[in-house]
Amino acid sequence: MTRAMRLRQPANLDNLRMETAEAPPPGPGEIKVRVRAAALNFRDGLVVGGFFPVADGLIPLSDGAGEVIAVGEGVTAFAPGERVVSTFHPNWLDGHIEKSELTNSPGGPAQGFACDETTRPATHFTRAPAGYSFAESASLTCAGVTAWRAVVTDGRVKPGATVLVQGTGGVSLFALQFAKAAGATVIATSSSADKLERLKALGADHLINYRETEQWGEAVLALTGGLGVDHVIEVGGPNTIGQSFAAARTGAHIAIIGAVGGFQVDTMPFAIVQAKRLNLQAVTVGSRRDQIDMVRGIEASNIRPVLDRSFALEDLADAFRHLQSGRHFGKVTVEI
Ligand SMILES: NC(=O)c1ccc[n+]([C@@H]2O[C@H](COP(=O)([O-])OP(=O)(O)OC[C@H]3O[C@@H](n4cnc5c(N)ncnc54)[C@H](OP(=O)(O)O)[C@@H]3O)[C@@H](O)[C@H]2O)c1
Repeated sequence: MTRAMRLRQPANLDNLRMETAEAPPPGPGEIKVRVRAAALNFRDGLVVGGFFPVADGLIPLSDGAGEVIAVGEGVTAFAPGERVVSTFHPNWLDGHIEKSELTNSPGGPAQGFACDETTRPATHFTRAPAGYSFAESASLTCAGVTAWRAVVTDGRVKPGATVLVQGTGGVSLFALQFAKAAGATVIATSSSADKLERLKALGADHLINYRETEQWGEAVLALTGGLGVDHVIEVGGPNTIGQSFAAARTGAHIAIIGAVGGFQVDTMPFAIVQAKRLNLQAVTVGSRRDQIDMVRGIEASNIRPVLDRSFALEDLADAFRHLQSGRHFGKVTVEI
């Protein structure tokens, strides 16, 4: 028996309890992993806050990285001692997949990585980038792959393109770095002057404080000579999408990703979507192939994830409180 943090019902931060879990020897096609780090996402906060119904005793956190400690019969992709990263949609290996098959994401509904050890099919992991710490690796599963999908797989961002990223959460900071690596000009928004300075240090070309400039869509138009941006990495949701559409160039690609700005239902501004012939492409993280490609891309471009604070596994509730305070810049992680 090893340690596992479990979410008891009713789901809330006070019902995260350090308990135990079994990690049996790996069967055919499986590997056993000593989990060394996990990363927190906005979505994990919704799970532990009870906004997504999950089974009593769920082990939270979708993103895990660690070291292979045993391999089952027939496993050739990994060997003991190798560093691996979990995938977000274990069934989605490559190409097209139906929504009905995306049923077993770790951290809800399937068991997640807030635990010492885990035994799973080898295909539920990819190798970690060379030279990455476990915490850096763990930050890739959800935020990294989502940004890669938006910027590279779907967006096909070209040198010279203009990309708008919103706020300083995990997805946006990866998107900023992938877009810069592709040769794009990046316009970044944030709610604070401090964070805007840090965005600049990461390579953002233009900065907008979305609290001070409520009509930031207009500001983006002004920065792009009236044209608008080629790509919007839309993480704000119903409360930001109108400004995102205003900021977009005719024919722009809008990656529809999240709702950090709140879920309140707004009227979809159809007229502007039609007038600008906008290309709306929703993202649901990505496939194992996206993750493999991203690891290769990261190694070629020397991108490092932006890490915020790290917490001990027993302090997972505090890690979520920190994430939900909005004070973080980049990924909040747990060392295990
Ligand atoms: N569809 C998918 O595949 C997918 C995958 C991953 C994540 N998501 C979603 O994408 C969103 C971002 O995820 P994350 O993990 O990167 O979140 P996160 O790390 O928790 O991001 C929090 C940041 O969002 C920014 N923010 C808050 N309100 C904002 C607003 N009105 N406008 C612009 N920025 C705002 C803040 O940045 P500042 O403090 O700088 O203002 C805040 O620090 C979430 O809604 C998440 O559920 C979706």
